[in-house]
Amino acid sequence: MKLIEALPIVLSCQNLSKSFRGRHKQETVVLADINLEIRKGSFVTILGQSGGGKSTLLKLLGGFLPPSSGNVLFNGQSLKNNTPDIGMIFQDHNLYPWMTVEQNVGFGFRIKGEKPGNYKHLVHEILDTVGLSHARKLYPHQLSGGMRQRVAIARSIVVKPTVLLLDEPFSALDVQLRRRLQEFLLALWSEMNTTMILVTHNVEEAILLGQKLVVVGSNPGRIVEEMTISDIQYRDRYHPDFLHVQRYLESVLEGNLKEQGDNYYEEVLAISRIQKINS
Ligand SMILES: Nc1ncnc2c1ncn2[C@@H]1O[C@H](COP(=O)(O)OP(=O)(O)OP(=O)(O)O)[C@@H](O)[C@H]1O
Ligand SMILES: [Mg+2]
Repeated sequence: MKLIEALPIVLSCQNLSKSFRGRHKQETVVLADINLEIRKGSFVTILGQSGGGKSTLLKLLGGFLPPSSGNVLFNGQSLKNNTPDIGMIFQDHNLYPWMTVEQNVGFGFRIKGEKPGNYKHLVHEILDTVGLSHARKLYPHQLSGGMRQRVAIARSIVVKPTVLLLDEPFSALDVQLRRRLQEFLLALWSEMNTTMILVTHNVEEAILLGQKLVVVGSNPGRIVEEMTISDIQYRDRYHPDFLHVQRYLESVLEGNLKEQGDNYYEEVLAISRIQKINS
């Protein structure tokens, strides 16, 4: 397990806000005053309700959208546009329908003007890792949902980005496949030095995968909770500590912490503090 607090900061945002102009020209603030530090090589999960601004936050972190105010810093430098060092798997994971699996995965190299001879072996290697060697010549419409998601992961990981942003990559999958791909992603993460930032609605998934958990509240989106949990019991969904944190985060998401009573809240914060000290 990597010790999160000892790692250098790779991506951070300071007083980050984003507003969109509506049809009647009125401004809607989607994200307000977000301050966040992401450590190099860590796994961060972002939880929040639908419409809270999670996808918008990921797009800002990847330079795919400009902030309305505040800054995103990547390796200490202001991030102006998207860069090949930050990969993103969008919520609709948009594979190109006219390209085969192999061509989709090699696309990142092609747009950089590289010759297929230089990258073909890397594409084959990553397809082997995601268990899709046999599907190399197929087109996206010939794949199952889970296969498409693995192609999307392979496509973004093959260029070895420093940071990989994943927007609900497993949301459309059944429980078994979802678990297989979660394990697959964790294995990839421990092999490579890629920083992963994954958005999910699923509290269990957020705890299983994340060393750092961030909860974004709605209207406008703000960070309402941030926890560091890196001990091994949080990789076991049946461990009592796991269930304890799960229950706490569900309450944070539902905004009904007060109903749980102050003692309960203090108890859970004590756990997260212990993890912070241990890590
Ligand atoms: N390009 C845009 N123009 C105008 N409004 C936008 C734009 N993108 C997002 N929004 C609005 O910003 C809010 C947050 O959207 P976002 O997609 O970030 O939410 P989310 O947390 O990812 O939701 P979900 O969990 O459903 O994916 C929504 O109200 C949405 O309508
Ligand atoms: Mg979204």
